[in-house]
Order: sequence, then structure tokens, then C-alpha cells
Amino acid sequence: MEARSDHLSRTSGRSCLAIVLAAGEGTRMRSARPKVLHEIAGRSMLAYVLAAVREAGASRVAVVAGPDRDEVARETRAIIPEAQVFVQRERLGTAHAVLAAEEALRDGADDIIVAYGDTPLIEAETFAKLRRPLAEGAAVAVLGFEAKDPAGYGRLILEGGRLIAIREDRDASDAERGIGFCNAGLMALRGDVAFDVLRRIAKNNAKGEYYLTDAVSVAVADGHAAIAVPAPEEEVQGVNDRAQLAEAERVVQERLRRAAMANGATLIAPETVFFSHDTRIGRDVVIEPNVFFGPGVTVEDGVVIHAFSHLEGARLASGVSIGPFARLRPGADLGPNVRVGNFVEIKNVELGPGVKVNHLTYLGDATVGANSNIGAGTITCNYDGFTKHRTVIGEGAFVGTNSSLVAPVTIGENAYIGSGSVITDDVPADALALGRGRQAVKEGWAADFRKKAKAAKSK
Ligand code: UD1
Ligand code: CA
Repeated sequence: MEARSDHLSRTSGRSCLAIVLAAGEGTRMRSARPKVLHEIAGRSMLAYVLAAVREAGASRVAVVAGPDRDEVARETRAIIPEAQVFVQRERLGTAHAVLAAEEALRDGADDIIVAYGDTPLIEAETFAKLRRPLAEGAAVAVLGFEAKDPAGYGRLILEGGRLIAIREDRDASDAERGIGFCNAGLMALRGDVAFDVLRRIAKNNAKGEYYLTDAVSVAVADGHAAIAVPAPEEEVQGVNDRAQLAEAERVVQERLRRAAMANGATLIAPETVFFSHDTRIGRDVVIEPNVFFGPGVTVEDGVVIHAFSHLEGARLASGVSIGPFARLRPGADLGPNVRVGNFVEIKNVELGPGVKVNHLTYLGDATVGANSNIGAGTITCNYDGFTKHRTVIGEGAFVGTNSSLVAPVTIGENAYIGSGSVITDDVPADALALGRGRQAVKEGWAADFRKKAKAAKSK
């Protein structure tokens, strides 16, 4: 945390434009969805990059999308409403893509950072680190990493600690291919030279594309300094196919688990717990193995989540216990010390403090008052095939096991519902409702029946 504020303070005072490239075709994803909109922990890759550049101090953000990519523009604006979205009509290379944002470049900024929409693991701090050399006079700063397998990456060519060129894999000599220090693809350019440098990049290379990487040799030829800034490989991994998407998911999940534990939650088997990017976990929370969090879950202090529970769009107030095998769906709002047991599904329901729903129950579209007890097998019949209806249960009510509550229906405070009831009409406070037929008893019937059945068989 200290390192971050240090980097940010050194770059503060300088304006920054971030250009995020997202015009790639993403062929290897084999998907109808644009690559940068594939999700990691419930959030698009593009959203991660936009959040990181924002946090790194970019005051303006431009996204370069491919043609017919309205969804990319929509996602961009959902995250940064004032961001500019440009379209690169033809894919003529990374420098060409940056120049698609020419209008934003011409407006100028002290620092220009270029990020890839498909490199989602990059942290804000790293962008801030990349901007630092610009404040110290360099024209270009490039993020580098030691690649386990450098094949396919651009190699960083250094001379006396200075970066002099980036050579793309297919343009490199055998000696250059031996270099392990590679271009992560993220770059920072000084605003006063950026446009001039980018404009002069040619396409005399194996692919016949305008390479952003050539910004280094062009700037150096003009007498400017270029610097390589090292980063860990894990952070600069690009996502090109589903296997790499799963790998990025693994990295993000590890970050989220570490953060939850650092904040005071116990994860018995952290590798089996899956968070959403926005999951909020309080202190002294215990999460047993095999728990999944969808988006929008808030867990307050002292909550216990037993094994095999699935949660999304839910709030669990302090002292709540759920599961094993609990399912909380959007709108589940559990008040303090609520108990939700095994095989219970809860959707769009407010449970007051101390409510118990311990076994085998479905509650949907309901409000349950404090300290009520909902017996095993209770079902709210909330849907008639067309509309959803509400069930309202007052404080201190006792719903006997295996009852169907046919909504809309209201059960008064401290009322009792007899087991096995089908409740179709409102029940007043303090009443007993028996929504079932009376029990009939025929003395000796079973003994007679058995005797006759045996006699018939022996004939
Ligand atoms: C690029 C770098 C390489 C680096 C590697 C890191 C260049 C020339 N090469 O190679 O040095 O090691 O990334 O992963 O920059 N894009 C567009 N429009 C285009 C072309 C690309 O928007 O016309 C976007 C892509 O969507 C992608 C990014 O730019 O997000 C990189 O393009 P890609 O073709 O994947 O470059 P690489 O060959 O991987
Ligand atoms: Ca790539």
C-alpha cells in the first residue's frame, strides 16, 4: 500500500490519457462475444483494465474497439461514462490502433499510457511505475518481463541500461531470439512527443503492420531516452483463449482469497472458495470448503458459511449462519443472527433478526419478521405462472413443517401454522391456522387388512 501511494504521488500533478486497445478479433476464444468482454470473477477483462488505469491516475480514457462492437462501447461507458470510444476499421497493427484515438491524442496530456484490453491482471501500481520515467525525462517507458517461454513476444533490446529497440519475434535474429526480457505490451509515452513519434512509425516488417513497439527506435533516433520497467510475468499475462482465461481467473481468485484472509476471514480450504470481484467479507467470518460467490454479496462480521453454499446478490448481517448446502439468490437479505440451514433456497426475501429457516425450504418474495421459525419443507408458492406475489410473515410466527404458503398471503405476529397446511387466506396475529383436512382414525383397520391379505395369499 505504501509503495502505491509513493508511485502515485510522484506522478500526480501530471495529466494522463490512457488508450486501451480492444480491437482484436479474439478468434481463439471461439466466441460470439468480443474477447475483452469475457469475465473474470464476474467482471469483464476490459473493466479490470479500465479500473486500473483510472486508479493509476488517468484523467482521460479512450478505448479503441473493432467495427460492430457496440457492446464494447456500452461496457466502457458503464464503467467510465465520459470515456471516448474510437473504432479502428482495419486492423493494421498496434500503432495504427493507437492512432485511431488521434482526436484524444491531439487534445494532449503530459503522459499517454497504452494498455491492452486483453491483459486484465495489470495493477494500478504498475501503470504508475511505468509513468515515473516520463516525469524524469524519458520519452518512452515499456513494461518488460522475464518470459518463461519468450516465443511470440517482442524482445527488449538494451544497450547500457537504456532501451534502444523492440524486435518482434518474427523479425528477430537468432541472437535476439535468445533474449528472455520481453515486451509486456504496455507502454507510456510522453505527451509532447507521442503523436509525432507514432505518426512516423512505418510498416517495413515481416507482418506488414504498424508496430507500436517501433515507437522505441523512432524516439531513440531522435535522441530521446527509452526505459524498460520490469514487472512480474503473472501480472502481464494476456488472454487469447479459454485456457488462458481460466489461468487469469486462477490468479484473480488467489488475489481475492488472500485479501479476504488479510481482512480477518478464515477460509478453511481457500483454494475451493470462489469470490466475485465485488464480494465484501467482514472480520471473523468463517467460510468452509466449496463455497461460491456470485456478484453483489456482502458478508458482515462473525458470519459462518458452511460447506457447499452458493450465494449471489445477498446480504448477510453479523452473526448469520448459513448452510451447508444453502442457496441465497438476489435480494436475500438476512438480518443479524439469522440461521439458514441445509437445502434452503432464498430469493428476494427479507429475514428479520433471529429468524430460523433450518431445513429443506424455498422462500421467494417474502418478508419474515424477527425471531420467526420456518419449519422444514415450507414453500412459498409465489408464482402463478404470470406474476410473482408476496408472502408476509409477522414477528415471532411459527410455521409448521411442510406448509405451502400460497401468496399473496399474510401471517400475523406470533401466529401458529399447523404442519402440512396449505395456507391460502390471511392468518390473524396469535391465531392457529390448520390448512388441511382433519385426521381420520379407524381402530384395528391395519390388523384386519393384514389378516385378510394373508388368507387370500395362502389359498
Ligand atoms: C504485441 C507486441 C509484442 C508484445 C506482445 C505482448 C506489437 C507490435 N507487438 O504482440 O511486442 O510482446 O504484444 O503480448 O505491439 N490490436 C488492435 N488493433 C490492431 C492490432 C492489435 O486493437 O490492429 C490490439 C489487440 O486487440 C491486442 C493488442 O492490440 O489487445 C496486441 O495485439 P496482438 O496482435 O495480440 O499483438 P502481439 O502479436 O501479441
Ligand atoms: Ca497478443
